[in-house]
Amino acid sequence: MSANAPTEEKVLSVEHFTDRLFAFAITRPQAFRFRSGEFVMIGMPKTEEQKRPVMRAYSIASPSWDDKVEFFSIKVEDGPLTSRLQKIQPGDTVLMGRKPVGTLVLDALLPGKRLYMFSTGTGIAPFASLIRDPETYERFDQVILTHTCRQVEELSYGLKLIEDLREDPLVGEMIGDKLLHITSVTRENYPLKGRITDLIQSGKLFEHAGVPKLDPKEDRVMICGSKDMIDDTAALCETFGLTEGSNSDPREFVIEKAFVG
Ligand code: A2P
Repeated sequence: MSANAPTEEKVLSVEHFTDRLFAFAITRPQAFRFRSGEFVMIGMPKTEEQKRPVMRAYSIASPSWDDKVEFFSIKVEDGPLTSRLQKIQPGDTVLMGRKPVGTLVLDALLPGKRLYMFSTGTGIAPFASLIRDPETYERFDQVILTHTCRQVEELSYGLKLIEDLREDPLVGEMIGDKLLHITSVTRENYPLKGRITDLIQSGKLFEHAGVPKLDPKEDRVMICGSKDMIDDTAALCETFGLTEGSNSDPREFVIEKAFVG
């Protein structure tokens, strides 16, 4: 087996949130290092008919200090990977690539006062990692995580995450009132209705959070969702004067560059 071949990890837990969404945790090899917000290739052992395993990029949802690695996934009935992955049970084997990479990392942003994390659907995953990392709160005074879904039940992973986080012995106290979790829904009745792009444009988001509108001098932004959502939200950030950063050229906003199919 080559040095770049994925490692075989054991499934530790699986939690189903809706009939389209589930989260799972696997063992973490000692040599596996990553920065909160990065993604890695995930797959299932190949079947007899397959020449090689189907692997897809998945954002790591657990923080870099954790001894397990967690993921949040959609279930696609005839998806090449998720049709099988959605059926995993504790004790099963999942393949994980050896090289985590990514753009949604704190190092790709200039220092600032407020950090926005704009997410839709399973795009909340990298932020599940970052909001559990003490470094996020060391670098920013305020962290505003937004999560927009089509339906109310799809918000449940994020709501549970925040609830558990407040009880977390390591980060819970650090967070205090620094973290604001704003949820919105687009296709059902909900107190805050609408796409994140519309809430930014109308100013409702800032009103709701009690903060001034986006300002390149003090605000930093991370964006993760579908390709269209990322493109539209990034374009909107640019209208406020924010520019896209990278690991080698940190700036005011960053976008996710991995897409799970
Ligand atoms: P909508 O219900 O109006 O399509 P999806 O499951 O398609 O990724 O959508 C998840 C959430 O992201 C939905 O609330 C959806 O709103 C929203 N969304 C989809 N496309 C965009 C976009 N281009 N910009 C902002 N939000 C979007």
